[in-house]
Amino acid sequence: MSKAKQVVLTGDRPTGKLHIGHYVGSLRNRVKMQDSGKYKMFVMIADQQALTDNAKNPKKIQDSLAQVALDYLGVGLDPEKTTIYVQSQIPALSELNMYYLNLVTVSRLERNPTVKSEIQQKHFDRSIPAGFLTYPVSQAADITAFKANLIPVGDDQEPMLEQTREIVRSFNSTYGNVLVEPEGVFPPKGQGRIPGLDGNAKMSKSLGNTIYLSDDEDTLLKKVMSIYTDPDHIHIDDPGKIEGNIVFTYLDIFDKDKEKVQELKDHYRHGGLGDVQIKKYLFNVLNEELEPIRKRRASYAKDIASVYDMLNKGSQKANMIAAQTLAEVKRAMGINYFD
Ligand code: TRP
Repeated sequence: MSKAKQVVLTGDRPTGKLHIGHYVGSLRNRVKMQDSGKYKMFVMIADQQALTDNAKNPKKIQDSLAQVALDYLGVGLDPEKTTIYVQSQIPALSELNMYYLNLVTVSRLERNPTVKSEIQQKHFDRSIPAGFLTYPVSQAADITAFKANLIPVGDDQEPMLEQTREIVRSFNSTYGNVLVEPEGVFPPKGQGRIPGLDGNAKMSKSLGNTIYLSDDEDTLLKKVMSIYTDPDHIHIDDPGKIEGNIVFTYLDIFDKDKEKVQELKDHYRHGGLGDVQIKKYLFNVLNEELEPIRKRRASYAKDIASVYDMLNKGSQKANMIAAQTLAEVKRAMGINYFD
C-alpha cells in the first residue's frame, strides 16, 4: 500500500435503495473525497451486517445489492478510483471478527447507544440476534482489515468507531502493533440529517417519507408537492412559518443560491408566497441535482451483468488486501503455525 495516501473506508447496509438522506449525509462527500485524488478509497456493501437483523428475509438483501451499487454509480462513485465490494465475499473479515470478539465484553456491547436504540426500534426485547449485538465488532473488522484511518459516516456511527478504536488498542497492546485506529469524518453541523417529507426528523423507508435517488421526475414532483409546510399557512396572503417548514429545510440544504433562499423566506414570512409556488421552485432545485444522477443510474441499470462484474472485481481486490491484514494478525497472535 502506498504510504503517503490516507485510507478512506465506508459502507452501507443493502436493505433498500438509497435516498437523498444518504446522499446529503455521506454519498456526496465520498464522491468529493474520491475526486480529490488524495485518498485510497474503499466502499463496501455491508450485506452481512444487513443480515444480522434480516436473517429470515435474505431476498431483501439480495435484491438491494444491485440497487445500492447502482446508486453508488449514479452519484459518481467510480470503480476506477474507488474499490467497491461486497462484505460477504471477503472471508478474512469474518475471521478477524472471530478474534476481535474475544477482546470485547457482552456488557460493553450492550452499552453501545446506537445498537441500543436500534434494539428498541426493532422491538427485539429479549430476543436480540447474537450477530446483531456483535455487529459493531464485525464493523471493526471491516475497518481494520484495510487499515483505514478515515471513515466518512453519519453521526450515529460514532459509537462503532469508538468500539473499533478500543479493539485496535486492545489488540495492539496484547499482540503487537498491527492495526490502525480510525477516526470518523462527519458531515458539517445541520447537514448530516435530512428530515422526511412529512416533517419527521428522520427520512426512512419504513416511514415512507423518502425521495430516492432513483425516483423519476414525475415521482419527484409528486413527492415535493406532498411536503409538509406550515399547516397554518392557508391563504397565500397569510404570513407563513419557516421553522419546521420542510420546503425551506430542503432549500437550505440543496439550493446553492443562498440569497434567493433568504428572499423567498422573507417573502413567505411576510405573506403572499404560495406553497405551490415554493414547491415548484424546490422541485427545480432538486431536479437539477438529481437528474444527472438518475440518468447515470439508468444507463448502468441497462447492464446489470456488468454491475455484478464490477462488484466481483472490486471484491477480489479487497479480498487480497484483507487477507494480507489477516495474515499479519495471525502472525502477531502466533497462530500462523504452518508458515
Ligand atoms: N453500520 C453502517 C451503517 O449502518 C454500515 C457499515 C458496515 C459501515 N461496515 C462499515 C460503515 C464500515 C463504515 C465502515 O450505515
